Amino acid sequence: MHVILVTHSCVYTVSFYHLDHDYNSSMKQLDITSQAKSKRSDKSWYILSAGLIISVTVIFILDLQFFASTNFIRNTLNGKMLEVLSAADNFTNKFIDTMKHKLIIIDSDIPDSGSEQHVSDHFSNSNHGNCTWPPLNLQGRTPLNRTDIAIEKLDQKYTFMADGHYKPKNCTAYQKIAIVVPYRDRQLQLRIFLNNVIPRIHRQQLEFGIYIVEQTAGSLFNRGMLSNIGFVQAMKDMAYDCVVIHDLDILPEDDRNFYICGDNPIHMATKVEKFKYRVPYHSFAGGISTFSKKQYEDINGFPNQFFGWGGEDDELFARIKRSNYKMTRPFDAHGHCGSVQHSGQRTGNDRMKMLQISRKIWKQDGLTDLEYNLVEKRRKQLYVWVYADINMAKVREKLKKLNSPSRK
Ligand code: BGC
Repeated sequence: MHVILVTHSCVYTVSFYHLDHDYNSSMKQLDITSQAKSKRSDKSWYILSAGLIISVTVIFILDLQFFASTNFIRNTLNGKMLEVLSAADNFTNKFIDTMKHKLIIIDSDIPDSGSEQHVSDHFSNSNHGNCTWPPLNLQGRTPLNRTDIAIEKLDQKYTFMADGHYKPKNCTAYQKIAIVVPYRDRQLQLRIFLNNVIPRIHRQQLEFGIYIVEQTAGSLFNRGMLSNIGFVQAMKDMAYDCVVIHDLDILPEDDRNFYICGDNPIHMATKVEKFKYRVPYHSFAGGISTFSKKQYEDINGFPNQFFGWGGEDDELFARIKRSNYKMTRPFDAHGHCGSVQHSGQRTGNDRMKMLQISRKIWKQDGLTDLEYNLVEKRRKQLYVWVYADINMAKVREKLKKLNSPSRK
């Protein structure tokens, strides 16, 4: 400290001297008389001494301040600082509490600014149970656990689950949730999915069942139809309040992104890692979305006609709008989701053409005309495995009829 102050005072003095020196040189240039020069050299000494006096005074004042401040720090560390910190902490906790399960309502007329339009945290259809809500042991945003753990080990880790189902022991959950995952041939991703989703939803104190809906080999993958099959199969098991259509490779990173239903469908996967944690486009409805039974029935579920990659979620968004719902999104940063990479891409489809056709036929294409062959439904410890056969040729036959010019 003192080294700094002494250096400071030297700089002060020297700069005073230099100021004076510069003054002298400029006077010289003006060619002033020798009498004037001697007066100036007297003046130099005055300025030099004044500089030194000011520097010493500055050192003295700064020294006082330094000691005062160390005492202040000592005092505050002995208690006051802790008070300040805990006040800040209380404030943050209160803030987090109020934000815990707020949702932003969006619709396609609203610019994609992520700004709040309206906040909703009620679901009129549910009796809300008596488990503490919002739950007390949420962890906020935590990174995904990408370690691959064998399914037997996962069974041992999550012993609270049986037959693909979990129910809180000492209270009634806020809602009963069916997680429906369209699936084909991604065993590693499935294990990572289970190891991330189960503990998160468990911390959310919800009653839940997981349905892995696998499509048999033969036809192109049909995410929409597998979602519809999962919905029907889950509702056969029990009266779930809410169905969550969940991609296998997109996983929430934040406990405050609740697996629940509201008065409108909720799109949970808003800020996905593979889209650089941004909403890729405003009406994006892919990844993870939640529906009450009524909402899913009102929109006639997903379209059945989208085979291969893409478009079925765009049609889903259109159905939500056409049915006069407003899709909602989790509050601000709560919608962060990690993505688990996999190799190989599903074959694309003619989704633009299908989206055009769907506008006309959506009421006949979905839950209302769902046809499939249930090959197997097996209750494993962590999930219910639904194995279903989809006959693409038959489904496309229907499209021809629905889209025939005589029906227009
Ligand atoms: C597709 C959607 C897909 C989105 C993001 C769109 O072009 O139609 O199905 O979810 O891209 O990948």
